[in-house]
Amino acid sequence: MHNEALEPKITLNNDVKIPVLGLGVWKASNEEAATAVGMAISHGYVLIDTAKQYGNEAGVGFGIKSGLTIAGKNRDDLFITTKVYSGDQGYQASIDAIDGQLERLQTDHVDLLLMHWPVNNLYNETWRGMEEIYRSGKARAIGVCNFDVERLTDLLEHATIKPAINQIEFNPLIHQQAVVDLCHEQGIQIEAWSPLGNGKLLKLPLFNEIAAVHKKTAAQVILRWAVQSNVIVIPKSVHEERIAENADIFDFSLTADEMNQINQLNEEHHSRWYNDYQWYGNPDGDPNRIMKA
Ligand SMILES: NC(=O)c1ccc[n+]([C@@H]2O[C@H](COP(=O)([O-])OP(=O)(O)OC[C@H]3O[C@@H](n4cnc5c(N)ncnc54)[C@H](OP(=O)(O)O)[C@@H]3O)[C@@H](O)[C@H]2O)c1
Repeated sequence: MHNEALEPKITLNNDVKIPVLGLGVWKASNEEAATAVGMAISHGYVLIDTAKQYGNEAGVGFGIKSGLTIAGKNRDDLFITTKVYSGDQGYQASIDAIDGQLERLQTDHVDLLLMHWPVNNLYNETWRGMEEIYRSGKARAIGVCNFDVERLTDLLEHATIKPAINQIEFNPLIHQQAVVDLCHEQGIQIEAWSPLGNGKLLKLPLFNEIAAVHKKTAAQVILRWAVQSNVIVIPKSVHEERIAENADIFDFSLTADEMNQINQLNEEHHSRWYNDYQWYGNPDGDPNRIMKA
């Protein structure tokens, strides 16, 4: 199915266009990711967000291949994002890792390569490696994740190429206003991870009240709020009805008053694990695991 709203519409600072909504696949196994990506492509999704850390690049690659065949589309119709694994940080290590990632994804380039985490003492060198990957054409755009004001300022002082994106935890309870403001000033697009608070926000009364007014669901209201806040969203689901539901947010608008009410929910802080997480390990799976098709 073609969904015009899911086509690339936002222009990044290197003129590459990216969709405003895509599919996330964190915590999906290779098998789940393959099925979800295939379903998403047939529902018109263009943007798929994975990471070596998730251990499911091979499943995503398989889902892309089968999804494109079923939908009668080409690789160039998609916008594939993956991330530099924290265990691959450093100039040479990040360069050495990309070919294996592309092989698992069954493609010769990604549309966006993000640094998954600002590993202290390494992120500037890693960025230098990512600039090389960008110049080689193996990534059409490069960006970062989880950079706060201090680290982003430092990166900008060392970088030759400005990040196109900062993918951060962002939802009605977590606005991260300081880093969002810096990104706006610098022309760096914000992309929200866990836009639904990993599903935990869906029960909050306000979203359900607003959803009832628009004959929509709480998930749709939250995603619509992010999109109206000029933020790209990548909600994750492995269920077809939810994949379709999450993309069906372009036929209604939240009023200024509703946006304001949702904005009042901001508590600013991250989810509890965030500040303690080291990201050197790979708790979510073995990235080298090859999916058996
Ligand atoms: N860069 C980073 O550091 C970073 C960190 C975290 C996440 N991410 C990316 O961001 C993506 C999204 O974040 P996330 O996966 O943490 O959380 P999320 O998208 O906020 O929420 C996903 C959860 O909500 C459920 N869900 C999705 N749509 C739903 C709906 N319409 N109704 C009810 N439940 C629904 C999903 O369950 P089912 O799957 O069972 O439907 C899943 O449990 C990730 O998948 C990943 O690609 C990046």
